[in-house]
Amino acid sequence: MEKQTIFSGIQPSGKLTLGNYLGAVRNWGKLQDEYNCFYCIVDMHAMTQYQVPKDLRKQTLEGLAMLLACGLDPEKNTLFIQSHVPAHAEAAWLMSCMTYFGELSRMTQFKDKSAKQSDNINAGLFTYPVLMACDILLYQADLVPVGSDQKQHIELTRDVAERFNNRYSPTFAMPKPYIPKVGAKIMSLQEPEKKMSKSDENDNANIYLLDPPEVIKKKFKRAVTDSVGVVQLADDQPGIKNLITIYSVCKNMTMDQVVEEFEGQGYGVFKDAVADAVIEVLKPVQDKFHELMANKAYLEEVYKDGADRAERTARKTLRKMYKKVGFIPR
Ligand code: AMP
Ligand code: TRP
Repeated sequence: MEKQTIFSGIQPSGKLTLGNYLGAVRNWGKLQDEYNCFYCIVDMHAMTQYQVPKDLRKQTLEGLAMLLACGLDPEKNTLFIQSHVPAHAEAAWLMSCMTYFGELSRMTQFKDKSAKQSDNINAGLFTYPVLMACDILLYQADLVPVGSDQKQHIELTRDVAERFNNRYSPTFAMPKPYIPKVGAKIMSLQEPEKKMSKSDENDNANIYLLDPPEVIKKKFKRAVTDSVGVVQLADDQPGIKNLITIYSVCKNMTMDQVVEEFEGQGYGVFKDAVADAVIEVLKPVQDKFHELMANKAYLEEVYKDGADRAERTARKTLRKMYKKVGFIPR
């Protein structure tokens, strides 16, 4: 039987958070043998916000180094940079003509982001999900590992794919979100009702993958909890619940086992233990990342080879799309 295909994209804008790692990237390494995997640094998506060119360059490379440091083997996975494969942009034009204004207007990420950047509600911010749909569809992806916030975009991808398949003939596989059960959503350390997001202005809300141990300790010490004083799972203790989630994922334990381990202990002790668990999980990732960033020639080799491989698959789908809609082949 042929392997199923996995595709995911990751933003180069800003540093990866513990949420990105535990909710997404860490789980990708476990998929590389069973699936045909493509991971893309989405530098074109990043343009929906203003980018300082030299920072974008640096962050794109860091994004790639981070994927490698998180355990993705470039032989087993196709790792590439979005702008290196022009088929994404080409397909996006075509698919934008098959996506309705009303559909895009309903996207909650668009509404959130336009509220946040009211001085720059650009057309790309609005059509962002079309480019994302093409990322996925060009590779005939079956599964898309994403956080739950991206589910709506995948539903849109399916709708648009189905529309194309019905209007012309079956062309695209129907992608499904792949969302791991535990640790799928890590919340902000400062406002635990909100997800941990690298766009958060409050630095204390996030743990970044490259935060040094003392910073991690400090951030957990400052994490917002409650006045109940008991380490347990309760709806009115979202901060504690988040810490339990983080600890359980880092230690490979169930949430109930964590509650049991800290029965009768204070928040101070618990927070220190969570910080230590996170430091331990991040140490090998940080070491590998720094080693890779000092080896630009190797990174270049990885992204060039990745682009070649990605291009072959993407071109094949794009050629089919062009032919079916009636474009004359050159
Ligand atoms: P973003 O940071 O929005 O570019 O997301 C990159 C990937 O990480 C996507 O798959 C997100 O859904 C996932 N992700 C981001 N933040 C979190 C979080 N706090 N918890 C779980 N997954 C997350
Ligand atoms: N929109 C995704 C995010 O913000 C990033 C992304 C771009 C993506 N293209 C993708 C994720 C394709 C999965 C598949 O997280």
